[in-house]
Amino acid sequence: MKTSRGEDSFVNLPAFAAKLYDSMMQSDATQMQYKEIAQDLVSRIGNGRLLDIGTGPGHLLHEIHKLNPNIELYGLDISNSMVEQASRNLADIKVDLLCGNIRATNYKSDYFDLITCSGSFYLWDNPIESLEEIHRILKFGGAAYLYETHRDIDKQKLWQKMKENLKGDNLIRKFLAPRFFIKQIGMTYAKQEIIEIIAKTKFANSSKIEEITIFNLPVWLRVKLEKCA
Ligand SMILES: C[S@@+](CC[C@H](N)C(=O)[O-])C[C@H]1O[C@@H](n2cnc3c(N)ncnc32)[C@H](O)[C@@H]1O
Repeated sequence: MKTSRGEDSFVNLPAFAAKLYDSMMQSDATQMQYKEIAQDLVSRIGNGRLLDIGTGPGHLLHEIHKLNPNIELYGLDISNSMVEQASRNLADIKVDLLCGNIRATNYKSDYFDLITCSGSFYLWDNPIESLEEIHRILKFGGAAYLYETHRDIDKQKLWQKMKENLKGDNLIRKFLAPRFFIKQIGMTYAKQEIIEIIAKTKFANSSKIEEITIFNLPVWLRVKLEKCA
């Protein structure tokens, strides 16, 4: 019987798997994806505290830092080996990295100006409690932006676009990356399911979901959740 959406498999992720994931995410195409998300986020925050949930190897935080080194960066991940990989990748940057589950954190209430995550929400076993926790730790007037792929998309079209994106890349990544991404998309929510989850949280009346294209891939949702005063 399936008991977890996927977060369980990350709790004891071996170090080699975190390294493999890290190296898969080094392709030019994926780095462009982080750059585009970072640009979008940095345009929405002056300075202040930013938390990346499910930060993995920390590539998004790195891109955000390059664009605005004054933003105070925080990264949370349920996997200790991912946190260790992020510490290595971000060794030259001041960043507060923590191993933990977004369902219940030790961050202070009303603490973050902006909270984000990319490709992590779909794995959370308790999405409603986790969104309530995000609401608690966000400042009033602050917002969370979740960048998530959704499964109600045209997989053939996605395959084609991914091939174009990976044209200049090495053979291993050309082989592995599209298969990994398509498998991941199969596990994600349909847009309507996300709407129904949000409707059960304190963000029910302050959310906006947009279908967006990130680095040529028209498979993304940007979920904006505002904490209103
Ligand atoms: C597919 S990876 C994405 C990593 C990173 N955001 C990126 O874009 O490269 C998903 C990450 O979410 C983390 N994760 C899953 N469930 C979590 C939870 N409940 N709380 C915090 N992190 C979680 C996993 O350990 C993993 O590192």
